[in-house]
Amino acid sequence: MCGIAGYVGNRNAPEILFDMLKRLEYRGYDSAGIACISDQDVVIFKDRGRVDEIRESAGCERIISDIGIAHTRWATHGEPSECNAHPHSDCTNGFIVVHNGIIENYRDLREGLMERGHRFESETDTEVVPHLIEELYTQSFEVAFREAIKKLRGSFAIAAISIHEPDKILIARKESPLIIGLGDGENFIASDTPAILPNTRRILIMDDFDYGIVTKDRVKIKDIRTGDEIKKKIQTIQWSMEQAERGGYPHFMLKEIFEEPEAVKNATKAIKEIEDIAKKLTGYKRIYFVACGTAYHAGLLGKYLLERFSIPSEAVVASEFRYSTVNTIDSDCAVIAISQSGETADTLASVKEAKNKGAYVLSIVNVVGSTLTRISDDNIYTYSGPEIAVASTKAYLGQLTAITLLGLYLAGESGRIEMDYVNEIIDDINNLPGKIRQILNNEDEIKKLARRLANKNTFFYIGRRLNYPTALEGALKIKEISYVHAEAYPAGELKHGPLALLEDGIPVVAINPNDDLFRKMESNIQEARARKATIIVVGESGDLKTPVIDPLLSPLLYIVPLHLFAYHISVLRGLDPDKPRNLAKSVTVE
Ligand code: AGP
Repeated sequence: MCGIAGYVGNRNAPEILFDMLKRLEYRGYDSAGIACISDQDVVIFKDRGRVDEIRESAGCERIISDIGIAHTRWATHGEPSECNAHPHSDCTNGFIVVHNGIIENYRDLREGLMERGHRFESETDTEVVPHLIEELYTQSFEVAFREAIKKLRGSFAIAAISIHEPDKILIARKESPLIIGLGDGENFIASDTPAILPNTRRILIMDDFDYGIVTKDRVKIKDIRTGDEIKKKIQTIQWSMEQAERGGYPHFMLKEIFEEPEAVKNATKAIKEIEDIAKKLTGYKRIYFVACGTAYHAGLLGKYLLERFSIPSEAVVASEFRYSTVNTIDSDCAVIAISQSGETADTLASVKEAKNKGAYVLSIVNVVGSTLTRISDDNIYTYSGPEIAVASTKAYLGQLTAITLLGLYLAGESGRIEMDYVNEIIDDINNLPGKIRQILNNEDEIKKLARRLANKNTFFYIGRRLNYPTALEGALKIKEISYVHAEAYPAGELKHGPLALLEDGIPVVAINPNDDLFRKMESNIQEARARKATIIVVGESGDLKTPVIDPLLSPLLYIVPLHLFAYHISVLRGLDPDKPRNLAKSVTVE
């Protein structure tokens, strides 16, 4: 997820563009840049780093211009660097583009353009766009732009300017958000409303396959496929700035929970890399998942998943791995490090130690170009977009998706399961976003349950096998944002001690998918009920109801109501779920 912005009007564009970028930084912040047209020439300023740093070094007062485009990046293709930062230009510096999204056919387009003599400077998918416009340009910027956009596959919100027609910004949208802010003698374009709000509340919302011609006095919107003009209704933004930054949600955490369907979908974009890496993993005798916190729970799911397919593996918290398990590591081992930030000190240290012992290291990461990705042999990106809330939610769904795909392909490559079954489950994964949305649409029921239990000071979470990690993750969530004591146990362990703690009214969250252990879980639930515990079942006919799903994928679905449940308990206890006490988003110290 990145942020794009554009301005055309009577005021000085650079200042306005940097202000707009600042308000889009929640969408990505590893590099940024602006491009303005000044005296028939294009001035581009971009670099790795945050918007303020780049604004500082750009020296806005030096650039006099009334039109420009800008971009703040969340890297997907090509790590954060000056050359990969947007804006990107063609060979002649005559066409400049910023883009948010993923161009899925960029490799083929790039190959063809290079064969026809185009020279590329970056590793990004985006850079194919200005070169396509250059190649298609004869006498109309709009015609060349539209023809170039029609060649793209994937998702995009694009803005482009050209020295050949310096009075207009051309824009196009498919799947990635894009809006136009209508001013007086000036117009704005942006990925989201926070960038527009300080200048105007009147907007036009671009839909998929719309493209637009934006000058300071006029906005025309047309259909990319037919070229026909489209009449759009002007809308007025009602949100405050704060609300707008969170997309109207009260907290980033809730916004990110509601992005969990997209997190699953985005993680499947790495399916080709995952399939290739699975082949590599068959060459190692022992596999270790290594991570911290929520990422560790994802690794534990990986262990249970591989065991389901009779492939032995271990999941170890990084702070233990680096001082103990690492002594058993050698070149026969594959270490799979999982990390949203790619900067967690214990995970980085574990990976360095494992590499010193000759192990192969794969990392499953959200932040492209983070330290972990640079010290690993291979990386699988989850493409979850920036996760702002300290408590990890959508990134966990991205990790689970990547690990499930990896486990399936590894089992298929090892001859443990048929590829038909792999493809069957992949179809189910593709249907998962819709099932997650069904749970999210049931938020009111989950809120009601949270209201009933908001004053409880201790919770038990129990699950078996693949859903023991779900129990651990559910307990961690409520601990870290509600400051409530919560314990997670393998359900079969209750009678080996914890049962002594159960008494009237103690909530026990039981994760019970419709699988071969359903009856076993039922008896654990009865044991708890007999001690007058308050039982909350997560399952197809549970108190936290879940849609029907192959039990193999239940961890990717059953955690969603538990994320929402923990969020609402936190809010009902008067806490700020986005900024829990004592915690940091990325624990870069030991
Ligand atoms: C999860 O909600 C916590 N914020 C924390 O446990 C986190 O998962 C852990 O610190 C690991 O972070 P990483 O994924 O960035 O490595």
